[in-house]
Amino acid sequence: MEYILTTEDLCRDFKIGDGSTVSALKNVNIQIEKGKLTILRGRSGSGKTTLINILGALDKPTSGKVVFGGQDITRLSEKKRDGIRRYQMSFVFQSVALMSGMNAYENVEFGLRLAKYPYEKRDARVREVMKNVNLDKRMFHRPGEMSGGEQQRVAIARAIAHEPELVFADEPTAELDTNTALHVVKLFKDLVAEHGMTIVMTTHDPSMIDIADRVYTLEDGEIVE
Ligand SMILES: Nc1ncnc2c1ncn2[C@@H]1O[C@H](COP(=O)(O)OP(=O)(O)O)[C@@H](O)[C@H]1O
Ligand SMILES: [Mg+2]
Repeated sequence: MEYILTTEDLCRDFKIGDGSTVSALKNVNIQIEKGKLTILRGRSGSGKTTLINILGALDKPTSGKVVFGGQDITRLSEKKRDGIRRYQMSFVFQSVALMSGMNAYENVEFGLRLAKYPYEKRDARVREVMKNVNLDKRMFHRPGEMSGGEQQRVAIARAIAHEPELVFADEPTAELDTNTALHVVKLFKDLVAEHGMTIVMTTHDPSMIDIADRVYTLEDGEIVE
């Protein structure tokens, strides 16, 4: 077993308006296995977003470590963390954040540009990932001309196009109907099985968890068995 990312005693406290503190994460120790689909599950408010944001270097813990590539990335400079976010990791969010003025192809191509993907390979790569997410026939549609599930698949295509080592998805199915949601999760499963990707996804939906290689359950900021 090869772990691509591990945490050591992660804690995250939030100070709130009245001066008190919320402990959103309490000594979280998890291991993310390379080439697998890991699900972080838990009720609303259990700490899933807080945890996935820290794993993906969008936020820093109050204490504890996130070990990725042999180093504790919580201690790196913002410049280095920005580089990790841009080139080695990527995020899919609950609300699809596509550029409404660009069609699906342009949205994915734009992501490749930001990741400095080699110019001469971009066109072929966009077409390839649009196939991977089964949207090659919708490539030139704008977000407003696609269903919610299709838009989320474009967002997934954009997240995987530059071949990041790790893809994070925070409740990517929460705004989709059950059937579409299962399709999206199945797509994650295929990307893991056929393309060797490593994906970490959060969900509050128990029907999703069967498909995962590994499940961690959060309750009040703690991992429970
Ligand atoms: N920026 C913040 N300021 C204060 N409290 C927060 C903040 N973000 C999250 N929390 C609190 O931390 C806990 C976990 O939140 P969150 O990680 O968003 O849970 P989930 O994603 O599982 O719904 C909740 O009690 C929430 O109110
Ligand atoms: Mg959340």
